[in-house]
Amino acid sequence: MTHVLDGNAVGDRIRGELEDCIETLAEAGVTPGLATVLMTEDPASETYVSMKQRACEEIGINGIHRKLDADAPAADLFAAIEDLNEDPEVHGFLVQMPVPDHVNDREVLRSVDPIKDVDGFHPENVGRLVAGEARYKPATPHGVQKLLEAADVDTEGKDAVIVGRSDIVGKPMANLLIQKAPGGNATTTVCHSRTQDLASKTRGADIVIAATGVPEMIDGSMLSEGTVVIDVGVNRVDADNEKGYELVGDVEFESAKEKADVITPVPGGVGPMTITMLLYNAVKAASIQEGVDVDLP
Ligand code: GUN
Repeated sequence: MTHVLDGNAVGDRIRGELEDCIETLAEAGVTPGLATVLMTEDPASETYVSMKQRACEEIGINGIHRKLDADAPAADLFAAIEDLNEDPEVHGFLVQMPVPDHVNDREVLRSVDPIKDVDGFHPENVGRLVAGEARYKPATPHGVQKLLEAADVDTEGKDAVIVGRSDIVGKPMANLLIQKAPGGNATTTVCHSRTQDLASKTRGADIVIAATGVPEMIDGSMLSEGTVVIDVGVNRVDADNEKGYELVGDVEFESAKEKADVITPVPGGVGPMTITMLLYNAVKAASIQEGVDVDLP
């Protein structure tokens, strides 16, 4: 029987433990503050940000939202970032990516105070992750690590193949999996658009992590029996329903499920974990900045 991993259940369990941390902070008079900045009218980004805000409200984090028009000058975004860097009530914040083309996204990431960079995208935090001294692990790969742990998938000595080399998922995922640490110690390959014979790589893997943004590009024929399949993709494809679209992953679920021992669905797999691990980083940010120890899950 294939184990279909329930990201909502694992996420809820971790959120429950984070609530205890928030209680500890409250006893010390601290409410964690997490701000989101949105500079786009892209519906998917709007949805993600409103989900992040709702999650803050539900768990007792002070959620703050800043919206900028997509055609506003870049200087407005940098001014908003500066405000949040200075605001003592904001322990962490993120600028939802992608930003419009007229804004230099690297400069955006560098402008966030590293201690408030709950995405873990600032070069200082990337360096800490690579060095094995992570402060804020990027939420999606950290969520994948927690999902694997919840499914009793031991990564040690396994062949892990990541498909996708983005700064948000592929690269930090690889850095987590190669660490000499629990949830790491995997022999890790990162595949991408220039990889030759992708299927031979995925067929040789014990663990496949798909993060390409290409709907259903990995199917069962590209997998061996018994593989652990983690699907990070969330793709809107046209559908004949009320919304006009449906969400599909980077993995063709039905054929992959035939081969996999463990697989994540879309939606309901990695997605809820991403938001949970963002909350985790917000709690950690408050704990570090206010000097209050908490017992993070
Ligand atoms: N866009 C897609 N994923 C993310 C994320 O994890 N953080 C931010 N800031 N933007 C994103």
